[in-house]
Amino acid sequence: MAELNIRTVKPEDFNFIIELAASEGVKYNVQDLVRVINYEPEGFFIAVEGESKLGVVSTVSYGVVGWLGNLFVKEQTRRRGVGTKLVRKALEYMACKGVRVTKLYCFPNNIPFYRRLGFRTELSYMVFRGEGRRMDSAAVEEMDESFLDKLSMFDRGIFGADRSKVLKAIYNQFKEYCFAAYVDGEVAGYIMAAGSEGQYEVGPWVCKPEWQERFAEELFKAEMNRLRGVEFEITSPQYSEVAERILLDYGLKPEGKVVRMSFGEDLNLGESGAILGVGSLDCG
Ligand SMILES: CC(C)(COP(=O)(O)OP(=O)(O)OC[C@H]1O[C@@H](n2cnc3c(N)ncnc32)[C@H](O)[C@@H]1OP(=O)(O)O)[C@@H](O)C(=O)NCCC(=O)NCCS
Repeated sequence: MAELNIRTVKPEDFNFIIELAASEGVKYNVQDLVRVINYEPEGFFIAVEGESKLGVVSTVSYGVVGWLGNLFVKEQTRRRGVGTKLVRKALEYMACKGVRVTKLYCFPNNIPFYRRLGFRTELSYMVFRGEGRRMDSAAVEEMDESFLDKLSMFDRGIFGADRSKVLKAIYNQFKEYCFAAYVDGEVAGYIMAAGSEGQYEVGPWVCKPEWQERFAEELFKAEMNRLRGVEFEITSPQYSEVAERILLDYGLKPEGKVVRMSFGEDLNLGESGAILGVGSLDCG
């Protein structure tokens, strides 16, 4: 049998990845994969055995924090160690980039797989599903390109690391789904969404705790209105009563749990009380 090799993803692998992701219910198009590959061109890996492509995993590094996502192994070749090899390769790569803690989101059924590799569970989230509809929102503006740097600074204080490369890429592809609330020219909160073919994911949805009463719901309403007629998911930290109240008030249905897991140092990062919804789960 040919040897199992892990190499970086190339554009000619995109069709394989699109099909593999689709078999797990994740809809990607070429533009989405170009975005993912551009986050970390050397950190998107594929497992190959001879001519056969077997699985993939993506990474994004933000200084000392890294994120792992898009781990998929072809169903017929599971339980042969391919997933383990891909994750080990991703962790090795992260370590070379100076990452001290690598995180990911996963469904609870995958906890044992990651625990075996040294990850520990950190936080629980609830995935809600709903459909956008026409509504008015006050005090929230479409995000302006000139505010992107300010937004990145704001987000850095909340997330605890500079993820501007991801925020800018989402903004560039999904401008019309990005809204922000400002107080005296400073960002108080923002919301984004990304997706395709009627499958959208809302997030990040972030608002400073002191401004949540005023803006959290308005940000959400602006996104609901933009997504009218479109089904979407939003993943919200289970500690956020504000987010839960808003999502239930607008008729969203809880669908299941997601957990955040972490490998490496226990760094105390960011201001988690401001996070109402997480977005683009493959990159934090
Ligand atoms: C999760 C996934 C990537 C694992 O890939 P894999 O190549 O089968 O994983 P490995 O062969 O390296 O598994 C290593 C160990 O993890 C555990 N494990 C893996 N899959 C498991 C499962 N479905 N149930 C219980 N334990 C499992 C086992 O201990 C396994 O060792 P064993 O086979 O000797 O018992 C694969 O099942 C997959 O693609 N699932 C669908 C997509 C997905 O859920 N991705 C993760 C998103 S967070």
